[in-house]
Amino acid sequence: LKQYIQKAKRVLDKNWNGRYTVPSVNLYPHQWNWDSGFIAIGYSRYNTDRAIQELKSLFDAQWKNGMLPHIVFDKNNLGKYFPEPDFWKTEISKYSPENHLTSGITQPPIHAFAALKIYENSSDKGKVKDFLRWLFPRLMKLHRYFYLERNPDDNGLIYIRHPWESGMDNSPMWDPVLEKIDLSQVKVPDFIRKDDKIINPEQRPKDEDYKRYIYLVDLFRKNRYEERKIFHECPFIVIDPLFNSVLSASNEALIKIADILGEDYKQAEEWYLSTARSMRDTLYDGNKGIFYAYDYIEKKQIKVETSAGFMPLFGGVASHSQALKLLEYMNSASFCEIHEENCFAIPNYDKTKKDFSTKNYWRGPVWININWMLFQGLKRYRFKQKAEHLEKTILELPVRFGFYEYFDSRYGTGYGTEDFSWTAALFIDLYY
Ligand code: DGY
Repeated sequence: LKQYIQKAKRVLDKNWNGRYTVPSVNLYPHQWNWDSGFIAIGYSRYNTDRAIQELKSLFDAQWKNGMLPHIVFDKNNLGKYFPEPDFWKTEISKYSPENHLTSGITQPPIHAFAALKIYENSSDKGKVKDFLRWLFPRLMKLHRYFYLERNPDDNGLIYIRHPWESGMDNSPMWDPVLEKIDLSQVKVPDFIRKDDKIINPEQRPKDEDYKRYIYLVDLFRKNRYEERKIFHECPFIVIDPLFNSVLSASNEALIKIADILGEDYKQAEEWYLSTARSMRDTLYDGNKGIFYAYDYIEKKQIKVETSAGFMPLFGGVASHSQALKLLEYMNSASFCEIHEENCFAIPNYDKTKKDFSTKNYWRGPVWININWMLFQGLKRYRFKQKAEHLEKTILELPVRFGFYEYFDSRYGTGYGTEDFSWTAALFIDLYY
């Protein structure tokens, strides 16, 4: 395994540009929000300085209202990705930062969780404490943004307003909501994709998906990124179990960070309790034994089973009896079909569904970050055997197939881009 650790570190070195680590030099040549969180966790095992730098550069581009953008663009590397700043036009917002070019949406807030890992894994606690002192108010500002701006019922259920905010862009979970955007009725600005020229289109979202993604971005621009206005006009307002679980894990980390610094943790504790309670009450389906996303506009659960539905294990949100049902579902043929003695890691979508795909982006393949979070969740609920099994398969995939972005859920073949940073970073984290 040792030689593969060297390889993983070489992937991160290749993608490190002196200020932060791009997810992939060719496909994602800027800084991505939750990618940097996972990457920092990998660095925390062997290079504290880089782990700190990774989060510092991201939070330097935090918006004035607290939002942490999903992409921070590299000014010297424009022209290779779509959509870039000329399309987002975030300068029309009174909240966007002055010295950085960014997108106008956010991503699952893994950062407090990652920051705590940096502290726990470092031998130089003094140095990390200085960093935490710098980061803590910024983390509070980010979480406060969610609870003030994205919490319409004041119950701790935080909404996302674009599939890209979920991190699981073209998950089947979003189909029923996106279909309500009737492409024959709305005007979508012209655009040219770049991703499908770099990666085989059968592994990427469809053009119709992109049209709807772009329609939403256009709606945000027209509303100058004013949250209240967007909320009233946007057809995609959903409560995502993954986003809220990650937020919960980070709320918990925020409590611990406050404690380390001698700061007040009451606010973070309130946030933690309200989100966890509302998730258990609103997103869980007791008959199925899984958590669902929730369509805020229709006021109903979106009955599509994906790996996001198990994420409340990671956030410590699931009650004991809910956790047992989640484990049962995870071990069913839907998510764990035994293949030649091998049950590969958890795929992103129920394998028994007609539109399940082993190779298309978030419509069925195996992703390392998702499996890594599920591994943490299983450990936390003391499902030891399943946790160990998952850990083994996560380490196996990159060894056998390379540090790919995602993997075929039947055969393990690597898809998307190679030399993908979070695959390498989380592999390193598990090895240590
Ligand atoms: C992409 O471009 O596919 C990213 O996931 C969007 O953030």
